[in-house]
Amino acid sequence: MEWSWTDVLCHPVWVVTTLLLYLVVRKQRRGYWDPHVCPVRLTGKTAIVTGANTGIGKYIALDLARRGARVILACRSKERGQAALEEIKKKSDNNNIHLRIVDTSLMTSVREFAKKINEEEKRLDILINNAGASGLPKRITSEGLEVSFATNHVGAYLLTNLLLDLIKRSAPARIVNVSSVNHKRGVVDFSHYRGDNLSYVLDDVYNHTKLHNILFTNELARRIQGTGVTANSVHPGFVKTEVMRYYSLLTQMIVSFVAFFFFKSSEEGAVSTIYCAVSEDVDGITGKYFDSDCSLTLASATARDAALAKKDWEFCEKLTGLSETKEK
Ligand SMILES: NC(=O)c1ccc[n+]([C@@H]2O[C@H](COP(=O)([O-])OP(=O)(O)OC[C@H]3O[C@@H](n4cnc5c(N)ncnc54)[C@H](OP(=O)(O)O)[C@@H]3O)[C@@H](O)[C@H]2O)c1
Repeated sequence: MEWSWTDVLCHPVWVVTTLLLYLVVRKQRRGYWDPHVCPVRLTGKTAIVTGANTGIGKYIALDLARRGARVILACRSKERGQAALEEIKKKSDNNNIHLRIVDTSLMTSVREFAKKINEEEKRLDILINNAGASGLPKRITSEGLEVSFATNHVGAYLLTNLLLDLIKRSAPARIVNVSSVNHKRGVVDFSHYRGDNLSYVLDDVYNHTKLHNILFTNELARRIQGTGVTANSVHPGFVKTEVMRYYSLLTQMIVSFVAFFFFKSSEEGAVSTIYCAVSEDVDGITGKYFDSDCSLTLASATARDAALAKKDWEFCEKLTGLSETKEK
């Protein structure tokens, strides 16, 4: 007898095992921390969330807004940012939500954004570097950087550094960098920043950038120790968002099918980042990596390599011209 795909998918054994697996995964993915019962209020505090117009970032921003913070949505599209702004205002009943435009793949845009923030804002208590993209096709930006590296890592590196004095003046303050468990499959090769020696198979480039997120966070935490500002990185889990939009239609369809059963919603995916940004449990904790269930966990050995993190920092300092900015 010949079997077709529909026979397999409709077979009771397949249906039952899938359902069971789904229930097990759902039960497992519930972290012990629930933002809805966390009483922390953020009235009088200011937060910036990059990539806040959709996916995980939008739900992080919504939570901070509900806690009464002044929230700045740092988005690259005015239209998409405005739609999110209106939705967040409505759902949170907080009118102190603002849209500022930034493209994290372009350092000129990051500098412009940071300049505006430094001029306009009196304080910055929470910075969430969430903006990111996976599967971007090979491209070198007009500033000579590989586009995924620029978007996911260099932009966040420069932005954080340019806002650091303001953040320090607002201490106690927190910086949270949204990384991924995929960092474990990443490697460090400084030629990647300019687009050399990269393979664009599946999410290879993305994985490297997520490794840099953690190295950056750890070195940042070391440098700001004692200032009252903490920096941690986090894995949000596997989350149903628009993150697959740059992959082929076939890949998107396969992932969407799996995601339907097993991935978290964007709201659930935001939880571990919100935990790092607001929970009293995280008071004073810095230079750590949190898993999607809000537990402290070990990043890969490469991600924890302090000498490599220092080297990476210094490389980015030259790449972004940050050392010259500081000297001026
Ligand atoms: N989804 C997952 O399973 C998963 C797993 C691990 C880690 N993460 C991380 O979670 C973070 C959020 O991803 P997501 O899943 O919520 O994806 P998403 O739905 O695609 O949202 C990504 C956000 O980043 C913004 N963005 C992308 N490139 C940008 C740029 N050059 N300048 C400014 N903003 C930019 C997007 O803006 P536009 O809408 O204008 O493009 C969007 O707001 C990312 O750092 C991602 O690596 C996600």
